[in-house]
Amino acid sequence: MNLDQILVRLLAGMESANLSVVELFCMLHDTQRRNERRAPPSHGRRAARYAKSLRGVWFDLSDKEMELLTEALKYHSDGYTEADLTVQVCWDADRLDLGRVGIKPAPHRLCTASAKSVAVLEAAYERSVKGNL
Ligand SMILES: [Fe+2]
Repeated sequence: MNLDQILVRLLAGMESANLSVVELFCMLHDTQRRNERRAPPSHGRRAARYAKSLRGVWFDLSDKEMELLTEALKYHSDGYTEADLTVQVCWDADRLDLGRVGIKPAPHRLCTASAKSVAVLEAAYERSVKGNL
């Protein structure tokens, strides 16, 4: 984890995304990484399977919400930008946190208008570089 919870909630609100799905994405998206150096797309597929195993045990989502969470998890490191708005917010939240590894997110790699705004981009980068303090 841990994506910037303040930024995530702000972005979800700005885009009217499903906050339950976005918050679960933030908690689960990197739980199945096998190391900190490389994150092949397979870790997203494993995270989606892991989320499925937790549904009804650790959290409850409707079928539609689970579909969105699954898509967001599965493809979060594939570079896509086209998807349901809630899935786009998940992907943007992840990409806006790249400052933690020294990468400044490029607007064309983001999905939503809110994430691409200069104010959000700058604030997200500054916060991610500092570890979301
Ligand atoms: Fe990831």
